[in-house]
Amino acid sequence: MHLSHIIPIFMSAALAVSTLTRGTKCTDSLALDGVYTSGDVDMGGDPLTHFDAPQLSAFNASAIEDWSFDGVSYDGSAGISFFFSRGTVVGHVAAQRLFLSVVWPNGTRYMESVFVGKSSVHQCRDSTTAHWADDTAGVRWAFTSSIDYKNTVVTIDSPTVKGTYTIKALTPAVYPNGLEYPSAGGNPLFAPKLYWEESVPVGTVEANLSILGTPFILSGYGGREKNWNSGAWADISADWDMIRAAVGPYAFIVWRYTSQVDQNTYFSMVLFKNRQVIFRTSRLRSSDPDGEKYGFITLTNTGPVHLASAPGSSLQLPESRFAGYILDFVSPEAKQHWRFALDFSKTVYWFPASSTLRIGGFVGNVTGGLAGGEQYAGLASGSAQEVVI
Ligand SMILES: *[C@@H]1O[C@H](CO)[C@@H](O)[C@H](O)[C@H]1NC(C)=O
Ligand SMILES: *[C@@H]1O[C@H](CO)[C@@H](O)[C@H](O)[C@H]1NC(C)=O
Ligand SMILES: *[C@@H]1O[C@H](CO)[C@@H](O)[C@H](O)[C@H]1NC(C)=O
Ligand SMILES: *[C@@H]1O[C@H](CO)[C@@H](O)[C@H](O)[C@H]1NC(C)=O
Repeated sequence: MHLSHIIPIFMSAALAVSTLTRGTKCTDSLALDGVYTSGDVDMGGDPLTHFDAPQLSAFNASAIEDWSFDGVSYDGSAGISFFFSRGTVVGHVAAQRLFLSVVWPNGTRYMESVFVGKSSVHQCRDSTTAHWADDTAGVRWAFTSSIDYKNTVVTIDSPTVKGTYTIKALTPAVYPNGLEYPSAGGNPLFAPKLYWEESVPVGTVEANLSILGTPFILSGYGGREKNWNSGAWADISADWDMIRAAVGPYAFIVWRYTSQVDQNTYFSMVLFKNRQVIFRTSRLRSSDPDGEKYGFITLTNTGPVHLASAPGSSLQLPESRFAGYILDFVSPEAKQHWRFALDFSKTVYWFPASSTLRIGGFVGNVTGGLAGGEQYAGLASGSAQEVVI
């Protein structure tokens, strides 16, 4: 057995260690490729834990934690999605993984998934700094974010990709129930075995990367979030639709998710106006109208783009069965109803998540606003999982 597999067993209960740096309390969390324990691990879930801090301090053969980022260009023609991940993915237990997919305005795509040796997350009073690195392969991805989530800079330095991505928040960080961080009433557990926190529901994004020597420049909107699951995504989730958008004075985040654990549907909708939360609900339209706020999501087929495999890719999957959404935010009490329509404009990725699941990343254009009020145009990014039988 390799030494690196032995040492962390002693450390696993205390991977997150506190250190005193210049009088400021900081925490460090280190995770190594292939290091895991058997049986249950603590999934965390304290709503007051900072959204960028790791919730898992030890890994087993199924738990995973992801810090995800995305973006859409102001004209909807380009998109980016990437994540830093710790934990088990198919065929790789307790991996330290990096994933990136982009689409250029002409539809050309690039996707990579890279496994590295270690990751570290260092959090102090004012900022969080994370590094996923493999010195032998020359791969180094990092992000630094201000503790108020307002400013985040990602730097990528690897043989394939070099450059930066920055995101400045336009909205406060929220829990799935729409409360703002920090709140003891926030509940990061969104569905069985699935935790979710929106660190930046919507922000402005600037990306400047060089990918295999080709520039990828994007100015637009996007967001970033954190998920941590006790089981693999393909085992716990069925279908979902996850959307973030900036539309005139509005911004929103929506996630409709069907669990494979209990087959129930879980739902979250948060609408912001001028950076404030103006609407939140976890209720998908039900048949008994009781005056409470609810939301609704309708899959549409009228847009020009279905999620599809990259042109020239050897694996050509059938396209998604839908091309966008209509999203309704309804407050019967206040007699207010906001409606937004979204059409996909580009596929960022589209691949099989299991033999029965396909997962896609998209960017799109959106129009809408308050029914009977001024209508605005904007942009969206997000992901969807479709069950195929
Ligand atoms: C890992 O830990 C989680 C959370 O305690 C648990 O639900 C899951 O079953 C464990 N996985 C394995 C393979 O033991
Ligand atoms: C599409 O755009 C990319 C990035 O600018 C470029 O490298 C590529 O050659 C273009 N492809 C086509 C088919 O024009
Ligand atoms: C992108 O980064 C390169 C290399 O640092 C720099 O020369 C270029 O000016 C940047 N482009 C933009 C649009 O910021
Ligand atoms: C998206 O853009 C296309 C092309 O400009 C337009 O035809 C379509 O109506 C737009 N869809 C939405 C939902 O705004």
